[in-house]
Amino acid sequence: MADPLTLHDPDDPRLHDYTDLTDVQLRRRREPAEGLFIAEGEKVIRRAVQAGYAMRSMLLSAKWVDVMRDVIDATPAPVYVVDPALAEQVTGYHVHRGALASMRREPLPAVSDLLRATPAPGRGEGTVRRVAVFEDIVDHANVGAAFRNAAALGIDAVLLSPRCADPLYRRSVKVSMGAVLQVPWTRLESWPADLGTLRAEGFTVAALCLSDRAVTLDELAARKLGKLALLFGTEGTGLTPGALEAADEHVRIPMDAGVDSLNVAATSAVVFYVTRPGPA
Ligand SMILES: C[S@@+](CC[C@H](N)C(=O)[O-])C[C@H]1O[C@@H](n2cnc3c(N)ncnc32)[C@H](O)[C@@H]1O
Repeated sequence: MADPLTLHDPDDPRLHDYTDLTDVQLRRRREPAEGLFIAEGEKVIRRAVQAGYAMRSMLLSAKWVDVMRDVIDATPAPVYVVDPALAEQVTGYHVHRGALASMRREPLPAVSDLLRATPAPGRGEGTVRRVAVFEDIVDHANVGAAFRNAAALGIDAVLLSPRCADPLYRRSVKVSMGAVLQVPWTRLESWPADLGTLRAEGFTVAALCLSDRAVTLDELAARKLGKLALLFGTEGTGLTPGALEAADEHVRIPMDAGVDSLNVAATSAVVFYVTRPGPA
């Protein structure tokens, strides 16, 4: 534990982790390269710590020091106290939640390790049975919402295509309410070839798409498959031909009232719920 240190200079190098937080392009490059991500707000910071991520530093406005006292006491990381105007100058926005933490990224697990892992307590017993796979979801809010759905609706692991947006980017973490720190996930390296790993591990890969030839979601759910990987496509054009070809099944949610499709995160909520596994 270190005593909180009040800083006054926006160019202080100790504030480097928090600079230009509103510059999405810059932060998307910088954060993975520097091995950090930003947790924003008391709940998310606590969740990141509980999930086992190491803290690099914390940036608080004075009134948050007491609220975060237990976290401060438990971390060896430096804690910087700044006034709200200085926080805004450094980060580029008004930090409503008053507390930011820079956390250390962990190396991502291998896909096969993730698929063989035992789900965390309270997330089902025994083997991994439900996996969500997202292809090229570019919007951080959609990634966050999809992870929140996954955490809430019994998904054991999430796999991302190489071009999917970063779940640890600040907006994804925030929209997920910290669920990106809770649900095990990794990134596939070779797309769509790595979907073969799922099949090798006994998963049926079901691609969610709009084809009239697809089976309905109810039909898929009625099969009560033991191990199911649910594959979702990008916001604009949906799943690529390669991903559709690599899937075992094509599955659709019938749409009413001339509506073409659902938002991808909304789709995931419906699909996760309808295909939830029965008792093991
Ligand atoms: C906004 S949709 C993309 C729509 C795109 N025009 C297409 O043809 O797939 C994003 C993703 O959500 C899923 N999705 C949305 N509505 C769906 C539906 N009615 N049935 C199955 N999947 C759906 C699919 O995985 C899709 O790739």
